[in-house]
Amino acid sequence: MKDLPNYLENHRERMLEELFELLRIPSVSADPAYKNDVAKAAEVVAEHLKSAGCDGVTIFPTEGHPIVYGEKIIDPALPTVLVYGHYDVQPADPIELWESPPFTPVIKKTELHPEGAIFARGACDDKGQMFMHIKAVEWMIQSGNLPCNVKLMIEGEEEVGSDHLETFVAQNKSKLACDVILISDTGMIANDVPSITTGLRGLSYVEVSVTGPNRDLHSGLYGGAVANPINALCEMIAALKDENQHITIPGFYDKVEVVSVEERAAMAQAPFDLDAYQKALNIASVRGEKGYTTNERNSIRPTLDVNGIWGGYTGEGAKTVIASTAYAKISMRLVPHQDWHEITQLFRDYFTSLAPEGTTVTVKPHHGGIPYVMPTNHPGYQAAHKAYEHTFGVAPIPQRSGGSIPIVALFEQELGCKSVLMGFGLDSDAIHSPNEHYGVWNYFKGIETIPYFYQYFVEASAT
Ligand code: BES
Ligand code: MN
Ligand code: MN
Repeated sequence: MKDLPNYLENHRERMLEELFELLRIPSVSADPAYKNDVAKAAEVVAEHLKSAGCDGVTIFPTEGHPIVYGEKIIDPALPTVLVYGHYDVQPADPIELWESPPFTPVIKKTELHPEGAIFARGACDDKGQMFMHIKAVEWMIQSGNLPCNVKLMIEGEEEVGSDHLETFVAQNKSKLACDVILISDTGMIANDVPSITTGLRGLSYVEVSVTGPNRDLHSGLYGGAVANPINALCEMIAALKDENQHITIPGFYDKVEVVSVEERAAMAQAPFDLDAYQKALNIASVRGEKGYTTNERNSIRPTLDVNGIWGGYTGEGAKTVIASTAYAKISMRLVPHQDWHEITQLFRDYFTSLAPEGTTVTVKPHHGGIPYVMPTNHPGYQAAHKAYEHTFGVAPIPQRSGGSIPIVALFEQELGCKSVLMGFGLDSDAIHSPNEHYGVWNYFKGIETIPYFYQYFVEASAT
């Protein structure tokens, strides 16, 4: 690997410009208006796989957005790494809160990124992190340092639930056969405190509605005399948690994995500055389930959050009206052993039971996801550990994340393979928020670290 630092130095500008080009394409998977841009991003990814030296590069159309695939098989007797990532991004709105346009990448210095960070939607989640793999594979192939087989599968529907990838994986098991899956779509604690993600939460996402009268009403003529759907919805949501921020849905916690005292003690060793956390979010205090620390609340404990709520008059000025229907979108993040189908049903039963007289309630499940855990004694985890240790100069810390990548548990079911979650983003990189960014240092550190994963994984597999 001795040429790697030189290669990175000599190709630095090109590697940045290529990522910029990808970031300029607004590949928003959720919004049909961007369908052509999503397709364009798939083409650009495919071109990069080809120029990296991959064979069999194909854009697989789906009923949704396409899946891009490429591979380099050097010897079927050697191990195979399957790289997964996504080229789709979250919508950019609220657009007015961006300090620079979301699809015009620019480098700006920040407190945590003194060498500069790339500001653009998808810079960290996941174009920047996915592209590191293409660049690392490019170096390994071009320099003759690829020590095993590699397959890359980059999808365009992660941010909307990976519906068509599920089918694709189930139908292409032998094409995708591998020994380990490698993903950079998570984060780490800090640039000088590297960590490897050992857990992802599952998800149940639902949309609810509460309907009262058959039409919008004058709030003076009818106010106080009929159930107001927005008031009712607020009462119902408020009833979903008690004063200890414990979720009240009967049976919700029945199957929750009890994390051992030892693991909780180990988690508490990870550096965490509550003060800095609060300052960064401009909040005077944190809030969550009683009896758990902030890091436990956002990783090993399930939670319920309203993601959106609407109804009635929200335009300029005042309009005196009682809306006929009120709506909310609610996510429940789940932990190991909770089944999202079951949780969705428990939610439906309980939420419906909370409907005040004179209202009717609907619960529409959107999507779900199974939680995931990676044991630290897995050879893939071990290889990642050594790789970070080598390039960061300090041992990485295992850390469970609160986010979800539902396809990861599905990979395990369908392909019988564990996923190594080598993320290089920071929580402060503002993924899904305005002003998303990704450190230039992190981008190149990722490209530098990835080849070591391959080397150590092949070494571990040979013994
Ligand atoms: N990359 C994120 C998930 C993530 C981010 C995990 C940081 C851990 C740390 C992914 O793109 C994402 O946003 N997933 C969604 C779920 C999906 C079903 C929309 C999520 O977690 O909300
Ligand atoms: Mn992502
Ligand atoms: Mn995301």
